[in-house]
Amino acid sequence: MPGSRHDAGRCGGICGCSLVRGRLQSCLGPLHDAGRCDGAPRYGSRTRSPRPTCSTRPAPVCLPACGAASPLQSRPGLLHDVAVSLPAIEPMPPRITGLVPWLGAGHRLLRNPTGFFRDARTRLGDTFVVDALGWRLFCVFSPAGVRRLYELPEREASFGLATFQLIRHKVPHELLAGRRNSPHQLFGGSDVERYLGDLERAVALEIDELGPAGTFEIFSRMRRLGHRLGFAAWAGPEAASPRYLDRLIPLYDRIDTSDSFVHPLRTALVEATGKRRERRALREIEVIIAEILAEREGTGTGGDFLEQIRESYADLPPGERERSIARDVVMLHLGAQSNLYAALAWTLVNVLLHPDLLERIVTGDDDLLERCASESIRLAQRSITLRQVLVPVEIDDGFVRHVVHPGAMIATMLSVTNTQAAPGLEHFDPGHYEGRRLADSVPVPARELVSTFGHGRHSCPAQRFAISAIRIALRRLLERYTIEPLFREARPLPRQLGAVARADAPCTVRYRTRAGVRSSMH
Ligand code: HEM
Repeated sequence: MPGSRHDAGRCGGICGCSLVRGRLQSCLGPLHDAGRCDGAPRYGSRTRSPRPTCSTRPAPVCLPACGAASPLQSRPGLLHDVAVSLPAIEPMPPRITGLVPWLGAGHRLLRNPTGFFRDARTRLGDTFVVDALGWRLFCVFSPAGVRRLYELPEREASFGLATFQLIRHKVPHELLAGRRNSPHQLFGGSDVERYLGDLERAVALEIDELGPAGTFEIFSRMRRLGHRLGFAAWAGPEAASPRYLDRLIPLYDRIDTSDSFVHPLRTALVEATGKRRERRALREIEVIIAEILAEREGTGTGGDFLEQIRESYADLPPGERERSIARDVVMLHLGAQSNLYAALAWTLVNVLLHPDLLERIVTGDDDLLERCASESIRLAQRSITLRQVLVPVEIDDGFVRHVVHPGAMIATMLSVTNTQAAPGLEHFDPGHYEGRRLADSVPVPARELVSTFGHGRHSCPAQRFAISAIRIALRRLLERYTIEPLFREARPLPRQLGAVARADAPCTVRYRTRAGVRSSMH
């Protein structure tokens, strides 16, 4: 009975999703608990080498878009399938591989992912296959191919399973099981007021901490501000206050997946140590969230996301309830931090490097500030969009109709299409956006070729929240301080695969309170 094996937390491999060549590679227990695995084998008939496939949908997280360990980088100890052949693709387009069977093109790809895909596209055209680190990527860059990728239903080519492959080596599995509050639920309602006040208070705390003058490195500072904004939104203003924030950040950083693509070896180490450090950090975060919840008892605090999350677990016994609430908070924060702070940072970088825009923003142009945010995200996107094929799917790339068999990943790389889809897109210009949408004047052959928050059924549910957070945070900082960049240009880190990029060099600024601004917001 597959169900009972799954409940016990160890998949017996009946559904084939965890047992590869007689060895338990990855128990999808948490996915089964959360989802709909019926234990039926789902290997495609044309796939000579079975890969784990399962229709179960994991707890939602903002990856692969948001980064985390890529399967391309984080499959430690997987030499088991060196000799395994990869899923069939008919007809096979041009293919990039390597001399070492499992490694394939992995080494070249990881050195500079954007450069790798861009060069491959120039040499091989808009559809090609990359065999790397045990995976077969069916890469699409043509308008029809990319549109088809975003259209594919979850049951045929899974965002959820691809995402799970990205984070499974780093995140403790208990975090994925039984989550009840996804960003879809939190942001689904139109009650934006729920979080706008929390964001304002969080920025005020940040400004208090910055004081009247000083220097900071933009990406480090925005990372801290991102923590503050996120924790304020889903764990309450208490979590964003100095009392809790400085305890939460180092613990969260131990679980964070977003560094894995920059440091793949760290991910291997996490797996090798049974995620002990990460599990300890999770336990400690659970204690902190329980403290916040206990302090709130009887105070009448309410109406925020934390209370909404608490209500959703009202049926659980004390202890288990607080643990579950804390795990929801951590999952939300993982999704948020992987993109939000870098998006904040690039927006500030670009605004500071364009004094004409800065001046208009300081005098109150919020629409321009939001368009600068979208444009900054577009240019800094390093997400690889992935869907893991579950049943044979047809991809018509506009010229050839390919059948892609289960186990392959259908992929496109945003950093390539975002800058090549139309003339002028290689430059920063907020005029490329009308509100939060790509302007109709940008002559793209398909709108899907330019992506900030994704397209179709898996597009980002937190887009409105993220753009509001950037607008509120940067407006308050720029109103408060004159900020002088001590750098002339900034470039994305070439090695980055996944998420909004970090910069390849420090972006330091000097700031001081503007004349006539009171020294404290409180
Ligand atoms: C500037 C910030 C952000 C950017 C640029 C961003 C980008 C994206 C992109 C491109 C996707 C589509 C992935 C795909 O199609 O493969 C996505 C999906 C997603 N994002 Fe974000 N994101 C941001 C912030 C956030 C935040 C703050 C959260 C949560 C608190 C979040 C949660 C999610 C989730 C849950 C999905 C998956 C949706 C699904 O399952 O259908 N994102 N994001």
